[in-house]
This record gives sequence, structure tokens and C-alpha cells, in this order.
Amino acid sequence: MITAPGQRPAVDVELQLPQLVDAAADLTRYILADDSERLRHSEAVAVRAQLLTAAVDDDQAPFLVAAAWLHDVGYATGLKQTGFHPVDGARHLRAAGWPPALCDLVAHHSGSRYVAKVKQLDDEMGEFAFQEDLITDALTVADQTAGPHGRSMTVDERIRDMLDRHGPGSPNVRAHPRRGPYLLSAAHRVAHRLDAFGIGPAEHGIFLRTQRS
Ligand SMILES: [Fe+2]
Repeated sequence: MITAPGQRPAVDVELQLPQLVDAAADLTRYILADDSERLRHSEAVAVRAQLLTAAVDDDQAPFLVAAAWLHDVGYATGLKQTGFHPVDGARHLRAAGWPPALCDLVAHHSGSRYVAKVKQLDDEMGEFAFQEDLITDALTVADQTAGPHGRSMTVDERIRDMLDRHGPGSPNVRAHPRRGPYLLSAAHRVAHRLDAFGIGPAEHGIFLRTQRS
């Protein structure tokens, strides 16, 4: 299901508390305890998301950081259902009672719907709503500026690294003609928003250094 911008349900006041982030961090550390590379990446995405909270409304900030922590838990072997980590992670969180809007963010992080289409998992993706809004963009940019092991990367570097790692013929590479422009457009939207708040390229580090002013 795809909904228009601005229709994301309001986050319950109880779930805006900092405890949401603490709970997300604790659960991620538990689920990914045996995958140090992925855990370091998730920690770095959460740090990036914290910086990018400037791009979203104040009441969405804890939600963004919590989703950043949780976005890759679906890689855990014990959570495997479809073998597609955005869906498997979101299903696990939904079953555990996490708020639906957070599960939607996890399911759709980093343009996963384009990869799902290649993998013929449209029905499974349809269990979770996609919205093109700033919190979705910010989560994607956080993920796309933190590489494996949590290494800081620009969006351009991250995309190149992803294409190299997955290789020709992979779903990620096959999805790239549609997914790549989405990732870049999300990055530009977030950078534009940050710029309006006085956070420039040197601080947010979203794009290649040669593109920074
Ligand atoms: Fe990730």
C-alpha cells in the first residue's frame, strides 16, 4: 500500500519518549549480538539518524532514531521468513507489538520496494505502507551514509560499494536503475532541508567531497 505524503499516522505520545530509542537499541544489540559487522553498521546508522533529526519534526525524532537502530534486524538468521531482510525485520517487529508506522519504516528503508519487485515480493511488501516523506528520506540517508562495519561514507560511495559487493545480476544491481535515482533524490531532499536549518555539506557529509562547497 502506498499512501500520499503527509498521511503518516501521528505517533502515540507514549512512543515519542526517549525510551523508544533505548528499547530499539537494546533489541538490536540482542538480535545482532552474533553479527558484529551488522551491529556496528546499525549503531552508525543510529548516530547518523540522530544528526538527521534536524530534518524532521521534533515529535518524529525518537521514531527516526529507533527505526535506524532496528532497520537491519531482519538479517538475523532466526528471523528469516522470506529471506528479504526489510520484510523479515518488519514482520518480527510487528509481531512483537512495535508501532505499525515504525514497522513500515523498517520495511521500506533505502528503497527496498524496488529490490522487492525484482525479487517478486510485492505482496509481502504490500503488508507495510510506504510514504514518501522526510522521516522515510532521513532513515534512508542515514543507512546510505554508514557502510559495513559502520564506516562513514557519502551516498555516492555507499551506492558504488553496494553495487560492487552485490555484483552483476544480483537483485540490488537489477533494481538499481529505479532504486538509484530514488536514493539520490531522497539524499537531495534531506540535504536541502538541513541546509535550511544551517547544516551544510561539510557537516552532514551526504555527498562526495568534490561536490561540497
Ligand atoms: Fe543498513
